[in-house]
Amino acid sequence: MAGATQIKAPDGWSSRSAFVLAAIGAAVGLGNVWRFPTIAGQNGGGAFVLFYFGCVLLIGLPLVLSEIMIGRAGRKDAVGSVQAIAKKSGVSPRWASFAWIQITAAFLILSFYSVVAGWVIYYAGVMGADLVGAIADGTPFVGALQGESVEAVQGRMTDLFANVPLLLGMHLIFMGLTYAIVAQGVGDGIEKAALYLMPAFFVLLVGITLYGATVGNLDATFAFLFTPDFSRLTPVAMNEALGQALFSMSLGSAALMTYGAYVDKGTKLAPTAGMIAIADTAVALLAGLMIFPIVFAVGLDPAAGPTLVFQSLPVAFQQMPGGSLIGFLFFILIFFAALTSSISLLEGPTSWAVNELGWSRPVGAAIIAGAAFLVGIACLLSFNYWSEVRLFSFWPIFEDAIIFDVVDGFTGKVMLPLAAFLVAIFVGWRADRRLVQHETGLDGPLFALWRFLVAWLCPIAVGLILLFGLFPSLLV
Ligand code: PFF
Repeated sequence: MAGATQIKAPDGWSSRSAFVLAAIGAAVGLGNVWRFPTIAGQNGGGAFVLFYFGCVLLIGLPLVLSEIMIGRAGRKDAVGSVQAIAKKSGVSPRWASFAWIQITAAFLILSFYSVVAGWVIYYAGVMGADLVGAIADGTPFVGALQGESVEAVQGRMTDLFANVPLLLGMHLIFMGLTYAIVAQGVGDGIEKAALYLMPAFFVLLVGITLYGATVGNLDATFAFLFTPDFSRLTPVAMNEALGQALFSMSLGSAALMTYGAYVDKGTKLAPTAGMIAIADTAVALLAGLMIFPIVFAVGLDPAAGPTLVFQSLPVAFQQMPGGSLIGFLFFILIFFAALTSSISLLEGPTSWAVNELGWSRPVGAAIIAGAAFLVGIACLLSFNYWSEVRLFSFWPIFEDAIIFDVVDGFTGKVMLPLAAFLVAIFVGWRADRRLVQHETGLDGPLFALWRFLVAWLCPIAVGLILLFGLFPSLLV
């Protein structure tokens, strides 16, 4: 019964700004503060960043509008919404398969996301304890972890990765928090969390960036982030940039479609989509401007990879005045960002379980979070017991990837672009044009431009990037 599965109005966003805040909360996360600086660093900075901006503007933004629009037009979970639009448009309900890809991607991303967020909790604890110690000693303005050698500071990450019970505990705490918020519902849980956490996040981000700018090396940062070396822009790097743009804006993983379903009919979607894309990209850039000056100031390697934030930065915090306070606030900032994103990752599959399977919200959220916790364990063990396991060794780009990197890489480089491709084809070609136009609220040349980007540029660009990124040998 279609009516019975409709999302009930009382549990929607209380206002447009609540939706914008929650959607920005979904978008801004580990992807901005951890993954973007990491892969921009690994791919040589400038040219990658420029290509990334292109992906955001020409592919990401039109798709953000498309996905929110699908949710608001369908007003159900991701699968139900696509089916509803397909029905109204007279096309096959099998188009909902891309919503399935999205829900599965959200589930898989949640599993490894919680593992990384667990590291964040650990480091926030380390820095917090250090700060308390420094205050007790009457030396709150010295660097963090005084008295530890650089090797010992860096070794904390190696020690953490070898400590399976600790890793499991942190993963459990984070997944538990995510669950607790989603189980409360949209208004009382998700919206409230965003309302408190996002403003705190922005204050911390601006504060630490300004502090980093005064004590760090800005010249080297600007040279690194804004001097393009196009020889570094390989098809594999482009594929990574596209995957990152999609990941960062929470595209292809059911979050925006699901959040869109709770938006009331009066809200104008196009400016809202613009705000989400702009805020997300600005935060990624600011995160680069927050992290690299500190990295360069103490002569660390910007291409350190995933350990950049966890292994390199603590060394920098050790050498900067007020390092334990800044370090503590830095990890709290990442934690807030991660939590508002992980709730959106859990909400997509939960909304599906509630609406399509008829489960209660607390039960649905518990089962999905529990299952993601288990998959996360496999990711977590790939840093210790299963470090030799190579699940996708048959595929050259994943040849040497541990389980964590396979789940991360397969979702980011395959599932999200594939989902984005199908969303573009569906919205650009199959969905009823009048329905789409009415729902987006766009008209005239703006609608024509948006539709051109969705119908033509997105599928072609995403298709090509997907093909050559996944099979670089096709180019030779
Ligand atoms: N956008 C989030 C980040 O940048 O960390 C990650 C994410 C959240 C991806 C929600 C997908 C999603 F549905």
